[in-house]
Amino acid sequence: MKVLITGGAGYIGSTIASACLDDGIQPVILDNLATGRVEFTAGRPFYHGDLSDGALLDRVFAEHPDIEATVNCAALIVVPESVADPLRYWHANVGKTISFVSHLLRNGRTRLLFSSTAALYAADEDFAVDERSLVEASSPYSRTKVAAEAMLADVSASTDLRTLSLRYFNPIGADPKLRTGLQIKRPTHLLGKLIEAAEAGVEFAVTGTDWPTRDGTGIRDYIHVWDLAAAHVAGLRRFDEVVPVDGPGYEVLNLGTGTGTTVREMVDAFEHVTGQPLRKREAARRPGDVAGAYTRSDKARRMLGWKPQFTIADGIRDSLRWANVRDTRLPGVSG
Ligand SMILES: NC(=O)c1ccc[n+]([C@@H]2O[C@H](COP(=O)([O-])OP(=O)(O)OC[C@H]3O[C@@H](n4cnc5c(N)ncnc54)[C@H](O)[C@@H]3O)[C@@H](O)[C@H]2O)c1
Repeated sequence: MKVLITGGAGYIGSTIASACLDDGIQPVILDNLATGRVEFTAGRPFYHGDLSDGALLDRVFAEHPDIEATVNCAALIVVPESVADPLRYWHANVGKTISFVSHLLRNGRTRLLFSSTAALYAADEDFAVDERSLVEASSPYSRTKVAAEAMLADVSASTDLRTLSLRYFNPIGADPKLRTGLQIKRPTHLLGKLIEAAEAGVEFAVTGTDWPTRDGTGIRDYIHVWDLAAAHVAGLRRFDEVVPVDGPGYEVLNLGTGTGTTVREMVDAFEHVTGQPLRKREAARRPGDVAGAYTRSDKARRMLGWKPQFTIADGIRDSLRWANVRDTRLPGVSG
């Protein structure tokens, strides 16, 4: 089997490409290197260009007529950037995805896995969400994902296109074989802040300890990026069962651990993995903070026969292992 992975030079797309290779699926990468890294395409057929470039897509499919499915990871993903420049985000994540779908259809390519986000849910009272939960996107970034999903559902309803939208929770970790990992040095999520505090030997502030969660701190659903990648492999292998030709042509699955991890649980796991206690203090919630959410759904388990294999400790360990090699793998990259 051969698949096209757009955004395959990025964090998640390159990990999916590695998981495909390990499973005997040949990935072909298309990426404009806006945030992706050419190093992550080593040993994989690579087309440098844009998702919306019809002539380039025609060439990819002419040169690889045996591509059976497409995984679309190409997008801009930084929430504050999307607030500062929403037009750029709508153009990149919606406008270009519309063009891309027309190029797929023109080339007779009808199986699409779409990278979506769980950041589009309004959290339920118990902080758990599933695929039927209320959608209430809170940023221009997540609204572009909602819009792209709506477009894909409409097009899938009336053409041969079949789409599997995968809503990711919070990816952490790296390819366990360390072929790829996060390009940026300092992720802004909780784990990134813990690594920073440990490296600098500074106090870590647990902000918000009075949420009605199981231990009072915020909750997220951190999932190992290799588990996410494995779900894509399962989605590719089972595509025709999950999104059958005689069905509505559109399916949505949440990809998370099903339990979530609170800030305190993450801090404990981090201390356990590093063997070093952190200096900590408790502080008030910051403006704009939310309690968070995790997925309660077992739909992905049922439909894909997939469940996460890695623990939070594995995710922390692989993030730290990647941080140790990142500067040699990606020379000259700061930030
Ligand atoms: N990282 C997360 O926390 C997260 C969570 C949920 C969903 N997602 C989704 O997963 C996908 C991958 O995210 P990531 O974390 O790997 O980000 P990333 O920035 O590492 O990867 C995105 C890739 O897409 C490429 N790209 C962007 N616009 C393009 C275009 N117009 N044409 C061709 N290539 C283009 C970039 O160069 C980059 O390689 C995105 O669609 C994102 O919305 C990410």
